[in-house]
Amino acid sequence: MTKFSEIKGFAFDLDGVITDTAKFHTQAWHALADQVNVIWTPELQESLKGIDRMGSLEMILKAGNKQDDYTHDEKVALASWKNNHYVELISGLTPDDILPGMADFIKELNDKGYRASVASASKNAPFILDKLGLTDSFVGIVDPATLHAGKPDPEIFVRAAEILNLLPEQVIGLEDSAAGIASINGAGEVSLGIGDTTVLAAANLNFASTAEVTLANIAAKLD
Ligand code: G6P
Ligand code: MG
Repeated sequence: MTKFSEIKGFAFDLDGVITDTAKFHTQAWHALADQVNVIWTPELQESLKGIDRMGSLEMILKAGNKQDDYTHDEKVALASWKNNHYVELISGLTPDDILPGMADFIKELNDKGYRASVASASKNAPFILDKLGLTDSFVGIVDPATLHAGKPDPEIFVRAAEILNLLPEQVIGLEDSAAGIASINGAGEVSLGIGDTTVLAAANLNFASTAEVTLANIAAKLD
């Protein structure tokens, strides 16, 4: 595998990696599932992580075999109902909502000259980074509206390395979802999974929580 000394940059997922907005996505999608009479399960919840808005809606409808019950316009209205609910839930975010250790880690990267970008499927990412006071910590954010395919396709992490002006093998991608780890691996970057090692078994490096993510701990696992 890549040596730590070759790493020059980091591509961050946002929801569930920098801040715990994954719980708000869950809350809003669960409310939508109830509205369309689809049974909410832990498996459905986990499978939605990292999946873009319309893709998530399709997965929920499919879980209840209701994918053909709505027109395209009705689906757009359902997705926008979920997003309005979600935006309400995240409107009070502050820098205190950055996950444990992540503010220090991002500062450590900035101080030591590593470049960082954001590879989130969320169209709300710029709003959230602003609320967290982190916009200036990143070289740039991939605009998910410009992608041909979302996670698990590698495109978003390929673009995140391009933003950094680095080769994929010089970049570590951080993710809390299986779809995201597949995207990082497909892009040829080093994948760092945060969370359940069973769900994130395909990651090159695994950390149980964000609090453990430091340059020293990453170096210890890579060398
Ligand atoms: C992230 C989250 C998903 C969410 C997606 C789109 O990848 O993990 O749960 O559905 O972003 O977010 P948006 O804010 O654009 O609806
Ligand atoms: Mg995530």
